[in-house]
Amino acid sequence: MKRTSYISELREIVAMERRQGKKIAFIPTMGYLHQGHLALVERAKQSGSFVVLSIFVNPLQFGPNEDYSSYPRDLERDAHLVEIAGVDALFHPTSAEMYPRPMVTYVEVGQLDSVLCGAKRPGHFRGVVTVVSKLFHIVQPDFAFFGQKDYQQYLIIQRMVKDLNLPVEIIPVPIVREQDGLALSSRNVFLTSEQRQEALILSQSLNEAEMLWRAGERSARVLETRIRDRITRESQGIIDYVEVRDAEDLSEVTNMENPVLVALAVRFGSTRLIDNKVMEVEPLV
Ligand code: PAF
Repeated sequence: MKRTSYISELREIVAMERRQGKKIAFIPTMGYLHQGHLALVERAKQSGSFVVLSIFVNPLQFGPNEDYSSYPRDLERDAHLVEIAGVDALFHPTSAEMYPRPMVTYVEVGQLDSVLCGAKRPGHFRGVVTVVSKLFHIVQPDFAFFGQKDYQQYLIIQRMVKDLNLPVEIIPVPIVREQDGLALSSRNVFLTSEQRQEALILSQSLNEAEMLWRAGERSARVLETRIRDRITRESQGIIDYVEVRDAEDLSEVTNMENPVLVALAVRFGSTRLIDNKVMEVEPLV
């Protein structure tokens, strides 16, 4: 596996592969990798492309009171994991390499940013799409892979690519969960064992909502209330939001006829976890 922290070197590595006719698959990450990231690698490898993975904890997407400085980092452990997983090139730039001067140019996100995590974390998605856009310009991938745990992020990036005519195909990859249902996240490491146990309520309440939906419940408010009540009753988690939204444009939903996203964010101590489920009638094959 090749590895570099320099943009110019990464460009050379990618250009050489392109000259040999290879397509480029890209997985942007903030490191502290887990099986969810490795599922992205596996999916990227299936495309037969040269696989580039980046690790960069992007300061631009953290608010002033968020966990930028304490975000977990272990570059050597990550490098070892991705080498075994078959990544071809690892790009791990420093902040100085990515932001050599104060930024004056950003990618702005429209209405998709005004709900869910966007509403709770002002400026977060502007930081995400700005760095993803920079990374796309550096790597120039044919395909880029994003986990569906950050469903809103995936949707916003997909929309950015369409709106700005970026020549990259965005490929969503399903959420990876622990055996007991907890969605994998780099932040899970911050949970105490008691909080980790309580956090199971997230996937459990989403599963219960799905069962209700399968049994014919179509009221978005009823599902939201059921999930909220259960989290409040059975854990000490502090709810940031529990919302049912249209799965394509995140607009408000009253009756769940089209595919919907049931999304939540809950704090356990200082650790904020997100999870979601997309509910849609399975297409006839
Ligand atoms: O999902 C993440 O890890 C980050 O938001 C991303 C896409 C790598 C941008 O910093």
